[in-house]
Amino acid sequence: MKWFLQFLVSSIGRKILMSLSGFVLMFFLVFHLSANMTILRGNGELFNQVAQVLSSVHVLRILEALLVLFFALHIVQAYYLRYLEAKARPKGYAMRKQFGTNPASLIMIYTGSIILLFLVFHIKMFFVDVRMAGNHDMYSAVRDAFKTGWNGWHWLFTVASLAALSFHLVHGAESAFQTLGLRHKKYTPFIRLFAITFAVLIPAAFAVLPVYFHFFK
Ligand code: HEM
Repeated sequence: MKWFLQFLVSSIGRKILMSLSGFVLMFFLVFHLSANMTILRGNGELFNQVAQVLSSVHVLRILEALLVLFFALHIVQAYYLRYLEAKARPKGYAMRKQFGTNPASLIMIYTGSIILLFLVFHIKMFFVDVRMAGNHDMYSAVRDAFKTGWNGWHWLFTVASLAALSFHLVHGAESAFQTLGLRHKKYTPFIRLFAITFAVLIPAAFAVLPVYFHFFK
């Protein structure tokens, strides 16, 4: 057990935790998006039913607790690794110049911080103020949030956060595979293609909802 804890706090252990938690969060995004897409059918009856089922199935509370744990692990490790990196960097080398490096990789901590800020507002708005408050009309809550929320700016904040998510995923998804040792000249192009496709399609599909509700509802 001691060796395992030592491994977890080693720099490679921390990177592997970042990668595994990143995969779990990517899986969550696909699940969350699938549930969200039901909002486009009818006048929200199906979406409200889905939200009702998701909030009443007890086993999902365990998955939610695990989700919080993985988010926390991912965020704490990211800031800690960044701190170690800054400490190890020689003084006067303020700008990281890495030629041939994907620019998205240099701003991971900033795009990650935007996503974190988005999540704080997002969970307060839908999870705390609607679900935990016992309101069963999640559809109206989402529609109003994007139509008029924050004096009409909430939809734009959401779309901007989704753009940050896209940049975060371009590098994050590829790097998660590489950390687990999947770097090979035969597979790397496929992994890169998968990462780019995921990073573009998933945030773009999420962004359909704020745009749809703000402009067309
Ligand atoms: C822009 C489109 C999005 C919409 C319309 C949306 C909508 C919602 C709604 C209605 C809930 C409450 C669900 C319930 O408790 O029944 C929720 C929860 C949540 N959302 Fe989103 N969401 C969007 C994007 C995102 C993104 C991009 C992320 C992650 C980066 C995210 C992360 C979460 C988390 C962690 C929760 C709490 C856990 C849960 O209830 O499953 N959401 N969202």
